[in-house]
Amino acid sequence: MAQTETFQLSAVAAEAYESTFVPALFAEWAPHLCDLAGVRPGQRVLDVACGTGIVARVAADRLAGAGRVVGVDLNEAMLAVARRVRPDVEWRQGDAEALPFPPASFDRVLCQMALMFFPDRARARPSSCPRAWPISPPTGPSSRWRRATPARRPRPS
Ligand SMILES: C[S@@+](CC[C@H](N)C(=O)[O-])C[C@H]1O[C@@H](n2cnc3c(N)ncnc32)[C@H](O)[C@@H]1O
Repeated sequence: MAQTETFQLSAVAAEAYESTFVPALFAEWAPHLCDLAGVRPGQRVLDVACGTGIVARVAADRLAGAGRVVGVDLNEAMLAVARRVRPDVEWRQGDAEALPFPPASFDRVLCQMALMFFPDRARARPSSCPRAWPISPPTGPSSRWRRATPARRPRPS
């Protein structure tokens, strides 16, 4: 069965994620991830497994209209919240292991707190960008994505 058929959240869960978990856990790290990746105006930025889109939103603020930001997630309910909160960003439903973009479509590919959900992380490594920056718990050696490891990760002030 395809991933899209097995992991769908409810609208209530997605709204709770945005109102509770994003401010408590995820919003703090999105600027650090954008710093590490060197997100800046003019770039094409992909946020893989974007959830309700906190990383894509921070990236869009940094691009300030110059460039392209796309958020991709498996869950339509998460994307519905993302579209409501930030309609000017491009939100697409898709599987990280089969990203619907041709090679070299992006300058930066970001992934925050989601790598651990991908069954085959090597497949999830995007050919669409040679420089990928996930923040996630440590993964096995098969993952060749560049990681923001605890040693490199900036501490919140
Ligand atoms: C803990 S949330 C993190 C969301 C977001 N990156 C953030 O920082 O708030 C994990 C997200 O990964 C998504 N996800 C899990 N497996 C996925 C896959 N194979 N492809 C795309 N998205 C996936 C889930 O739908 C969920 O929105």
